[in-house]
Amino acid sequence: MSMLDLLTNQNETMMPDEYKHRSYEEMKKRVIEIKQAFGEKLFIPGHHYQKDEVIQFADATGDSLQLAQMAADNHKAEYIVFCGVHFMAETADMLSKKNQHVLLPDMRAGCSMADMANMKQTDRAWEKLTDLFGDTILPLTYVNSTAAIKAFVGKHGGATVTSSNAKNVLKWALTQKERILFLPDQHLGRNTAFDLGIPLEQMAVWDQIEEKLITDQPLHNIKMILWKGHCSVHEKFTIKNIEEMRKRDRDIQILVHPECTHEVVRASDLAGSTKFIIDTIEQAPPGSKWAIGTEMNLVKRIIDQHPDKQIESLNPDMCPCLTMNRIDLPHLLWSLESIEKGKPVGLIQVEEEITKEALHALNRMLTIR
Ligand code: 13P
Ligand code: SF4
Repeated sequence: MSMLDLLTNQNETMMPDEYKHRSYEEMKKRVIEIKQAFGEKLFIPGHHYQKDEVIQFADATGDSLQLAQMAADNHKAEYIVFCGVHFMAETADMLSKKNQHVLLPDMRAGCSMADMANMKQTDRAWEKLTDLFGDTILPLTYVNSTAAIKAFVGKHGGATVTSSNAKNVLKWALTQKERILFLPDQHLGRNTAFDLGIPLEQMAVWDQIEEKLITDQPLHNIKMILWKGHCSVHEKFTIKNIEEMRKRDRDIQILVHPECTHEVVRASDLAGSTKFIIDTIEQAPPGSKWAIGTEMNLVKRIIDQHPDKQIESLNPDMCPCLTMNRIDLPHLLWSLESIEKGKPVGLIQVEEEITKEALHALNRMLTIR
C-alpha cells in the first residue's frame, strides 16, 4: 500500500487513539475473550520476529516457509490475523481459500527489502537482461517480495524461495535454465549459490536504479544475476563484530541468518532460517556459547528461553526490525475487535489476476520444499 493510499484511507489504516490508553491487562483480557469466542474460526499465525506481547497470543509460530504452509493447510479459520509483515500476509491470502479473510493488524508493517524491487524496475530489468542473455534466464524470488513480483516470477516459469528451502529450489531452477535472476535479496542469492558450488566470479549484480549489470566477467560465464536488494537489519552484522567476539572468547560459536552479507556468513560457524537458529540453540549442549546474528526480538526470546546457555547478539548495538515491530498488542486487539464488530480492518486482498500467476511460483516452491 502506497503512502497516498494510507493517507486517503486513514480510517481503515490508522488505529483509533483510544487503544493507546487501554491498560496492558485489559487488552490481554479482551484478546483472550475474543479468541475463546471465535475458537477455530480465528487463526493467529506469528512470525518469530514478533514482540513477546503479540507472540503470546499466536496459535502457531514459524519461519516464512512454515507460515506459508500453515496458510495453505488451514481450512477451518474464517479469519487469519497475520502477525508478521505485509508480504507474509499477502502470501497467506493467496494460499488460503476464497472464504477465508486475512488481516494485517497494522498496514504499515512492510518490509524494506521487499520494497527494493518494484514492477517497473523488474520489467525494465527483464527487457535488458533478455536482450543480453536471450531465453536462458529463470527468475526466482525470495518470498520477501510483493505479490506482483511473485506473479512475474510465476508467469516466467520460476518459483519463490524462503531462507529454509532456497538451496533445494535453486538446485531445481538450475535444471530448468542456464542462469537465474534472483530477486530481491542479493545476499541470500549469493550465499545459496555459493553453497551449491557456484563461484563468486559467476555471479553478477543487477543494479535496478542504474539499470545495469555489474560484472567484470564475459557474459557467458554468468550463472547468477543477483538483484541489488538487501535487508537493512541483517546488513548491520559485520566482520568486525565476528572478529571482536572471537577475540574475546575463542569458544563462542557464531550463528547467523543468510540475509547477512556473504563475508559474514562465511566467517560464521552456521547460517540458516529463523527456525534453523531456534532448533540449533535448542539442540546445543548446556554451557555452550553463542553469538546470534538476526533480529533482536527473536534473539532476546532465545536468550530468555535458554538460561543454561551463554547467548548474546552478534552486534551489541542491534535494534529490532522496525516494521515487524509495528504489530503490537493495541493493533492486535484493534484488529480482533474489528472482526467482532463485523467490520474487519486491515484486510489483505491480492488481485485475482496477480494471485493466479503468483500461485504458480508459490506452489512450485511448496512442491519442491
Ligand atoms: P525466515 O523465513 O528465516 O523466518 O526469515 C524471514 C525474514 O524476513 C528474515 O528477515
Ligand atoms: Fe524485511 Fe529485514 Fe525485517 Fe525481515 S528483518 S522483515 S527482511 S526488513
